[in-house]
Amino acid sequence: MCGIVGYVGDSKSLEVLLGGLKRLEYRGYDSAGVAVLDADGHMATRKRAGKLQVLVDDLTDRPIANGATGIGHTRWATHGGPTDRNAHPHLGDDGKLALIHNGIIENFSELKQELLDSGATFTSETDTEVAALLVGREYDETHDLTESLRRVVARLKGAFTLLVMHEDQPGVVVGARRNSPLVIGLGDGENFLGSDVAAFVEFTRRAVAIGQDQIVTIRTDSVVVTDFDGNPVETEEFEIAWDASASDKGGWSSFMAKEISEEPEAVANTLLGRVHDGIVTLKELEPIGDDVLAGIDRIVLIACGTAAYAGMLGKYAIEQWSRIPVDVELSHEFRYRNPIINERTLVISISQSGETMDTLMAVKYAMEHNARVLSVCNTQGATIPRESHAVVYTHAGPEVAVASTKAFVAQVTALYLIGLHLARVRETLTDAEIRANVAELQAVPDKIAEVLRVSQAEIGQLAHWMTDTQSVLFLGRNVGYPVALEGALKLKELAYIHAEGFAAGELKHGPIALIEPGQVVIVVVPSPRDPDSLHPKVVSNIQEIRARGARVIAIAEKGDASVLPFADEVIPIPLAGHLFEPFLAVVPLHIFGMELASAKGLDVDQPRNLAKSVTVE
Ligand code: M6R
Repeated sequence: MCGIVGYVGDSKSLEVLLGGLKRLEYRGYDSAGVAVLDADGHMATRKRAGKLQVLVDDLTDRPIANGATGIGHTRWATHGGPTDRNAHPHLGDDGKLALIHNGIIENFSELKQELLDSGATFTSETDTEVAALLVGREYDETHDLTESLRRVVARLKGAFTLLVMHEDQPGVVVGARRNSPLVIGLGDGENFLGSDVAAFVEFTRRAVAIGQDQIVTIRTDSVVVTDFDGNPVETEEFEIAWDASASDKGGWSSFMAKEISEEPEAVANTLLGRVHDGIVTLKELEPIGDDVLAGIDRIVLIACGTAAYAGMLGKYAIEQWSRIPVDVELSHEFRYRNPIINERTLVISISQSGETMDTLMAVKYAMEHNARVLSVCNTQGATIPRESHAVVYTHAGPEVAVASTKAFVAQVTALYLIGLHLARVRETLTDAEIRANVAELQAVPDKIAEVLRVSQAEIGQLAHWMTDTQSVLFLGRNVGYPVALEGALKLKELAYIHAEGFAAGELKHGPIALIEPGQVVIVVVPSPRDPDSLHPKVVSNIQEIRARGARVIAIAEKGDASVLPFADEVIPIPLAGHLFEPFLAVVPLHIFGMELASAKGLDVDQPRNLAKSVTVE
């Protein structure tokens, strides 16, 4: 999970590389480096531990010549700590070849031994340096950068995107990918490579995704893609649907603050073009086919982290509407337990980045075992949709903050749309019922906007009072349970506070022992209006914890007076149907995590030890 940029063009490499790395920094931020080939054919490299700004400051103090060819890297450490020496690029034996890498080379130990035996000297503890030394040696033999990289990738095991450049090859950058992302940006007299389109969206909106096990060679006037055997590959150009400003902070204090403010439009944009006359039709499901969907007897939702909580909500809606049994599994658990799936199983992967390695491996497994595989993804050209039968894109726009917020509500929207599509195909809901649910969905953006308007300041204040809090528990029932889990995850990853989400019904089976005077418990309270509502049970749960001294913050429907006597604070949310309440209840929890982290002086966009997309297993 590193960010990679490559450039050939005019002599502005450094601007392109540093701008691209800034936009990719969400992928890893423990060190950064660049290599640039100047007009005289001299390669300069600079790499520094720490965030990108450390490198930028260093380049300001001790400039290097700019050039027309360059590669840049921002790292999330796997092999070797975050030091200057372990930062990328890494060099070949003679220092003329520079290489950057995202992923893990699993057989690096044996390759390293082979290189040591032949007299190589290592300057870092990384797996990457093995590849740099090997490609450098191949180049000395072939004098062909593409062929050299091709020979080396044939020997590598694991996941990698590699970019290389060589002093003797000005105007050439070569990339290769396996199980790790790489996208081409097509410019005018210049071309780009990046881990995702954010790397170059400032300069071009024309992009091409590179498939699995492919090699690309970019020059100023050409882009050539082949497979690992050297056979030409047909590529498909796509237009990047958002512009550079979408991945800027745009005046907000953090990307996370901006992205929370975009939650209403993330839902609205994901609905766009998918509802006709009040009925959901997902054209994207055509590659699977309505006849196949009609015969599906089981659905498995696979995802990690926040995306898995979106999946849990998807389960409630899809099961209720389509009457197909739905399981939700963490991708890494699903992949390695020999799950029972077949051609009548629909596997739905959920991933904002479309690059999460655990989910990618689970998708491949499902494909190999004949399941129909549908991806819900937010990133055009990402690997997971390319490995699936069909994709429903969420249109949340680029999500830069490590903590997922707007992507979550967009994922839930997409899953609800899939549920309503299945209900139509299988005739488990009438048109009138579908229309009623669609109307609820269409009302969500305005209601989220209301939550943002009403609760932002109050939650900010609450968070400021809680900076010394050591532990927060979250409770919810039914669709409130995934919301509780999501609230707890946000607090852990952003504010580094111990937090746990529980199904409220589970409380008496153990967790209630944690309640002591002053323990903060945030409770997601369902609406009292629904005749089948679990409201009375949740209110009883609140009373049980209050009796033991808990300090209760309730997220409850506005006007719900029944919680007032038992809650220390109430955050009101607008009225919504049962399945649609999570869209509204989750927003205060996103704000809460962000505000508490900010109040503690922490970096909300780049929490410690994390990276935005987890591209290693
Ligand atoms: O890109 P993905 O949606 O596949 O990412 C999945 C998780 O890594 C991600 O949701 C993670 O849990 C977030 N940091 C949560 O805020």
